[in-house]
Amino acid sequence: MGKDVIIACDFDSAEKTFAFLDKFTGRKPFVKIGMELYYAEGPSIVKEIKRRGHKIFLDLKLHDIPNTVKKSMAVLSRLDVDMTNLHAAGTKRMMEAAIEGLTREDGSRPMLIAVTQLTSTDQESMENDLLIKEPIDRVVMHYAHNAKEAGLDGVVCSPLEAGKVHDTCGNGFVTVTPGVRFADGDIGDQKRVMTPEQAKIIGSDYIVVGRPITAASDPVAAYERCVKEFCD
Ligand code: C5P
Repeated sequence: MGKDVIIACDFDSAEKTFAFLDKFTGRKPFVKIGMELYYAEGPSIVKEIKRRGHKIFLDLKLHDIPNTVKKSMAVLSRLDVDMTNLHAAGTKRMMEAAIEGLTREDGSRPMLIAVTQLTSTDQESMENDLLIKEPIDRVVMHYAHNAKEAGLDGVVCSPLEAGKVHDTCGNGFVTVTPGVRFADGDIGDQKRVMTPEQAKIIGSDYIVVGRPITAASDPVAAYERCVKEFCD
């Protein structure tokens, strides 16, 4: 497993997505397709980006009863994506069912990553809205541990949590971290950010970078800068 930069293609149409991806004439970046683009365009966008030679992280964050998640994962697996995800809050049984659904007849499957607590959830909302009274760090590590026990490959987490996830679940357990900004860049609505270089030092395996690349005046140069800081 190599370290890589994943570009969050947070666009609302295939047209905008391809106008962006067409700028990359050399290396084909690993891309993340989230709910916005998937719900706008459906499976055809996944097939076309795959056909163009990109690796794909399909970020649909499944959370439902185990049987439904298992069957849905079987469908996503046929799209031949490289990575997909679900909510660890759906329980270990749901995560195990997801692995079953995702695994193809030849035993291969996309990487499966769990969302622990969304970074938009804080201690107060977790206690008041979800009635979870434990400290949020403990909840995140508990969910990561559950994901590992269920056979998942890793978690999506803040780069600030990546080191602790590795301490708790081992270095082979993958951390995929959004919230990355250049030292001289605009942080936008992200609250807790790190530079690609800091994310590398703390041990993130994959960084997910959206606007610092998609909104840059030269997206290819911004991507190459991320790769140089994070992977080299
Ligand atoms: O534009 P930006 O770099 O902030 O994009 C980050 C991407 O990572 C977005 O697609 C966002 O939805 C996703 N993400 C995040 N924080 C999480 C989980 C996912 O920013 N906790």
